[in-house]
Amino acid sequence: MFAKNCWYVVAHAHEIDDALFARTLLNQAVILWRTTGGRVVALEDRCPHRLVPLSTGRTVNGQVECGYHGLRFDADGACAFVPGQSKVPKAARVKTYPVAERHALIWIWMGVADLADENLIPDLHWLDAPGWQATTGYLHFNCDYRLINDNLLDLSHETYIHKHTIGNDAVADSPAVTEVIGNRVVRVHREMPNIEPPPLFAQAQGNNGRINRWQIAIYMAPGFNMTEVGFHPVGTDRTTNHLMMRPIHIITPETEHSSHYIWGLARNFRLDDDGLNDGMFSSVTHTFEEDREILELQDQRLKAENMPNIPQSAVKTDKGPVAGRRLLEEMIRGETDDPTQCAVPIPLADDQQVTMPFTQAAQ
Ligand code: FES
Ligand SMILES: [Fe+2]
Repeated sequence: MFAKNCWYVVAHAHEIDDALFARTLLNQAVILWRTTGGRVVALEDRCPHRLVPLSTGRTVNGQVECGYHGLRFDADGACAFVPGQSKVPKAARVKTYPVAERHALIWIWMGVADLADENLIPDLHWLDAPGWQATTGYLHFNCDYRLINDNLLDLSHETYIHKHTIGNDAVADSPAVTEVIGNRVVRVHREMPNIEPPPLFAQAQGNNGRINRWQIAIYMAPGFNMTEVGFHPVGTDRTTNHLMMRPIHIITPETEHSSHYIWGLARNFRLDDDGLNDGMFSSVTHTFEEDREILELQDQRLKAENMPNIPQSAVKTDKGPVAGRRLLEEMIRGETDDPTQCAVPIPLADDQQVTMPFTQAAQ
């Protein structure tokens, strides 16, 4: 089950050009491309003539040409050309989806089209705002998207899965505070004072000196996650000496058991350092692939045992994931009860909701 009346991210904006881009979202196969005017459009990947995927074809002058008999459809899904005849059948139409371009991302609305309102797009401005630089990437996970959200809301796993990069014993040993904000956001905050630096942190500061570290995992249903990660050397002032980054993890379901992981690692320092971008790209990819390995095993187990959900156990670090799932279930239930209900985003860009002021208050 998926929430439908909300915006999902299809891809990074730079991935869509005038050629066809095919992707399955919420079990629906979609094609996207940029028209000659640069607007991104999305159509169902299904030719109304003989049901062949339109992604077998190509774009011609801003329209899509089916790969089977060459019928062409315009950006509104109307048939514009049939080879060998001058009349085009009006009934031959392709379903279109509302699309928006914002924060260097392409967004799509898979629910009731009339309800699509760009004001409902969550604010992920760190990906393209002045003063920030984002390294970005994409990964495909063969698992239920909810398992990825769970993983991002319980970062105690860093101690075990990511011990060669961002994890050490201090992560799992430090308690986390879980908060639910409104009907759409869960925040899990962990302070790790005076700890040894995990390998990547030692590399970042250039020595093995002890650090004060923090992490704040923020989840907005159905699949937007932001993890603020930061640290400063013990004995220095947090406000002036910290290094901080905000990884954005956007999880869009492909099917019940596969997901698109569209990510961006935003930083507000060394903005023009391309070498740093390259280094971050490989570290992040490596780290997320460690998650993928575990989550795909978990999904296989759930499928093999035909279990719709994870069993509940009394483990404190499950608090975040359990709260996140509850919000998501409410969102889906709300839509089932009232098909015109839309999910209103919480303004994460308001720093009161997320980051430094909260962090400082918690010192
Ligand atoms: S199936 Fe697409 S043109 Fe015939
Ligand atoms: Fe992880």
